[in-house]
Amino acid sequence: MTEYDVILEWPDGRTETIDAPENESVLDAAQRAGVRLPYDCRKGTCITCVGRLLEVDGDDAGDNEATDEDSDADGAVGSPNPADAFAYRRSPAALTEREQTDGYVLLCIAQPRADCRLEVGPQIRAQVGDSPWA
Ligand code: FES
Repeated sequence: MTEYDVILEWPDGRTETIDAPENESVLDAAQRAGVRLPYDCRKGTCITCVGRLLEVDGDDAGDNEATDEDSDADGAVGSPNPADAFAYRRSPAALTEREQTDGYVLLCIAQPRADCRLEVGPQIRAQVGDSPWA
């Protein structure tokens, strides 16, 4: 089974690297490794577990090789695309298209498909809107 290195970063500078198999959510893999992350519903509806993708497989938002898809209309480089790093086991319906484009990821239902780096912690929840289902 394929496993990926998922680096979790907190605002205080703490980082943890977890081995996340492709058939397990980031939240489940973190808990198995003894790493605490915020969560509630575990079904992709409440947004409590939200993280933000910073880098996929070595390509961060500031990479000069960014494609057109990584750039805004004005040419500014945007966030890494969560679709490059995760498969969802169900639709992340609690996130808007824009929030997904901005790199937000529901870690309770996101299964890794690449090595990646994520910003995590309850402060990320404050950056996104309310869940339409909560
Ligand atoms: S724990 Fe509710 S959306 Fe992930």
